[in-house]
Amino acid sequence: MDLTAYRTVGRSGLVVSPLALGTMTFGTPRWGVDEAGARTLFDTYLGQGGNFIDSADIYSGGASEAMVGRFIADAGVRDQVVLATKFGFNASASPLAAQAGRPGNPNAGGAGAKNIHRALDASLKRLGTDYIDLYWMHIWDGVTPVEEIMHTLGDLVRAGKIRYFAFSDMPAWLAMKAATIASERRVPGPVAMQLEYSLVARDIEREHVPAALEAGMAVMPWSPLAGGFLSGKYQRGQSGGAGRLGGANPFGDSKFTEKNWAILDVLAEVAAEQERAPAQLALAWLLGRPGVGTVLVGASTLAQLNDNLAALGCTLTPEQRARLDEVSAMAPGFTDSLASPAIRRMVFGGNAVRGWGE
Ligand SMILES: NC(=O)c1ccc[n+]([C@@H]2O[C@H](COP(=O)([O-])OP(=O)(O)OC[C@H]3O[C@@H](n4cnc5c(N)ncnc54)[C@H](OP(=O)(O)O)[C@@H]3O)[C@@H](O)[C@H]2O)c1
Repeated sequence: MDLTAYRTVGRSGLVVSPLALGTMTFGTPRWGVDEAGARTLFDTYLGQGGNFIDSADIYSGGASEAMVGRFIADAGVRDQVVLATKFGFNASASPLAAQAGRPGNPNAGGAGAKNIHRALDASLKRLGTDYIDLYWMHIWDGVTPVEEIMHTLGDLVRAGKIRYFAFSDMPAWLAMKAATIASERRVPGPVAMQLEYSLVARDIEREHVPAALEAGMAVMPWSPLAGGFLSGKYQRGQSGGAGRLGGANPFGDSKFTEKNWAILDVLAEVAAEQERAPAQLALAWLLGRPGVGTVLVGASTLAQLNDNLAALGCTLTPEQRARLDEVSAMAPGFTDSLASPAIRRMVFGGNAVRGWGE
């Protein structure tokens, strides 16, 4: 498999590569990459058949979107690229503030109609385009009714300013409610979920993945390498050093737990058996998980990007996958117990009834 192993975004007609190029590093100080480096990443990804670029208004205070806009224009590939960006985090306290009013403006963030229209117009300007292919709600604000979000985003689809929309970092029930409203009312609905998902972050398997499968939404994992942890470059007992996890960053150092080191040990064993880098195996594991459509990869160097793209040529044996599944398994939670054979037998009078598709 390579970047041209295109697939749809969930139950939609939007066609994308199995790995998207995440642009959170573009223009980000300390752990990011400058414009020349970002252009190389962009050109390399596109050169290998990649078509899916993921940005956000908040990344490097708008610099990421501005770079992506320039790269697309210079390469003349607007129609070829599936361009995704996001709204939701408040812009008024960042370099985006010039378009967002005085610091503390509550309507310069969130999923209310006022902010979505403001954020989209600003993104379109930075990206130098008149439409977004996939517009993400970056994070649920906890207050805007889902009906309002659907109304605003549906109007933007009908107006041609966005082609599709999807939700990131939200409770599963919210996405499910939106999908249900969409199918009942025959209006545009969310086509994907963007969530933290990796060998060391499997929480979404409880509620989000089943909801995504039921509603035809693709699961798109972010931080698939846990910010670089799963590359194996960090060592037990050391601070993170110069890497992203080594200093003040939005992801902290919470990846350095005993359980995560144990997962990394097994990943390293499997990587040695395959004679490949651990990062490739971590991505291959994720690409094979139920519900996963496209994985968002991030890189701060060209070597990292090439390493990550090579994951598409990597196949885990069933035994290797089982070892990784086992070491990274979550402790059973409430919904797991509901699906247990014992409960099934209690419900069906001692019979082990098999459900549709099981
Ligand atoms: N929706 C959301 O809330 C959300 C949140 C986060 C990210 N995202 C999206 O997901 C994309 C990917 O997320 P992420 O950047 O956190 O992914 P990640 O793969 O978990 O971390 C990427 C970082 O890991 C290191 N790295 C990457 N490949 C490596 C390799 N082969 N070997 C060694 N180190 C490697 C680099 O950090 P060093 O510079 O330290 O080497 C790189 O910046 C982002 O660009 C963004 O588009 C979305």
